[in-house]
Amino acid sequence: MVKKWALPTIDILPKPPQKQPAEDIISGHEMTRMLLGRGIDYTLVKEVHAPQVSKYYFDSDSDEHIEKADKIAKLIGTRMKIFGVQAIEQRKPISHVCISIPRTKPEIVYFADLLTEGEKPFVESASPYVPMLFGKDENNKPVIIDLRTMTHCLIGGTTKSGKSGLIHAKICSMKMRTTPDKLQIFFCDFKGNDSSFYKDSPFFGVDEETRKPLQPITCLIELVIRLRLLNKLMEERAREMNAKGQRELPANEKRIVLIIDELADVMAKGKTVVETPLASLLAKGRSAGIHVILATQRPSAKVLDGDLKNNCPTVVGLKAANKSSSGVIWDEPGLEKLLGRGDCMIRYDEETEGIRMQVPYVSDSDIEAVMNFWKEQAK
Ligand SMILES: Nc1ncnc2c1ncn2[C@@H]1O[C@H](COP(=O)(O)OP(=O)(O)O)[C@@H](O)[C@H]1O
Ligand SMILES: [Mg+2]
Repeated sequence: MVKKWALPTIDILPKPPQKQPAEDIISGHEMTRMLLGRGIDYTLVKEVHAPQVSKYYFDSDSDEHIEKADKIAKLIGTRMKIFGVQAIEQRKPISHVCISIPRTKPEIVYFADLLTEGEKPFVESASPYVPMLFGKDENNKPVIIDLRTMTHCLIGGTTKSGKSGLIHAKICSMKMRTTPDKLQIFFCDFKGNDSSFYKDSPFFGVDEETRKPLQPITCLIELVIRLRLLNKLMEERAREMNAKGQRELPANEKRIVLIIDELADVMAKGKTVVETPLASLLAKGRSAGIHVILATQRPSAKVLDGDLKNNCPTVVGLKAANKSSSGVIWDEPGLEKLLGRGDCMIRYDEETEGIRMQVPYVSDSDIEAVMNFWKEQAK
């Protein structure tokens, strides 16, 4: 008999703590006064406070204004010693000049809160879509990406920048909206700290050949076995689709996500055995419903060679250790100036330029609540 799975509701999660107010270095009114002091008579029309940046929108009707605003932005940045003050010209729907300033005390975004925020909250997203919650953008909108359309994803950032936090947010959010018959996750976590939460989850499935439960992968040998298995599955699916003249995997077919945390460690120990099967999954896995998420703390051109990077157009750049790491992950400097703890830049689909985003904070009890929900059902 085919098992019928029920999705969890938001109240399985522990109630998040009360939000602490975030702080800004300057208010909208102070900014208007400062601009006036420089002979720029702008009217403040709107303020938007996102988790890490506040944006101040001013009325502007001449081309010159953006240049002046640009100078002011640079001045504020240098005077107040904050990175990332920017003047942005907005022409649609109305012409405005926007000055964006990083907050001195950012807001913590709690996972359970973000699941219910926005015009189309994550918890109401419909199946067979496999939604993943990445974070909250500069306009306070949740960034939700459908796994089925997501290109392979690269996560880069220094130690404690929030890479594992993002991985938990992705796994837990998918598990809030997708049943185990539609999704299987392989998590290769060399240190074993993060994946231990997911032991015995029905999402990690059963090995079809041995009938043994698949455990999160904790070592290289298991990773190599999984890579072979997934390559085999990829080829089978491709053959089937060819035979049926299908270009896309049918919507209800199970999606598979392979997550490799600490890619640099994996490559240091087993580049020769991992590189080829991983490269072929990256090149051809997506159309067969196999998606790869790679995270690395020590980005270097050696670990992330050109092919690998080109096959991961979805990029999340968390705080980088220095300019050169930022260059490897993001192709330009800037990530080294981010605030850490899930403050990041993301590039995906239509957002190819990159937008600033805050990853939600997923607590250990959030993960346990989601896991217990599924374990109970699997019994
Ligand atoms: N999105 C977040 N919001 C708030 N704090 C976070 C967030 N992500 C991480 N942190 C904090 O930073 C610490 C390190 O995060 P972690 O995800 O383990 O980093 P990494 O895997 O990059 O080393 C966490 O223990 C947590 O305290
Ligand atoms: Mg980590």
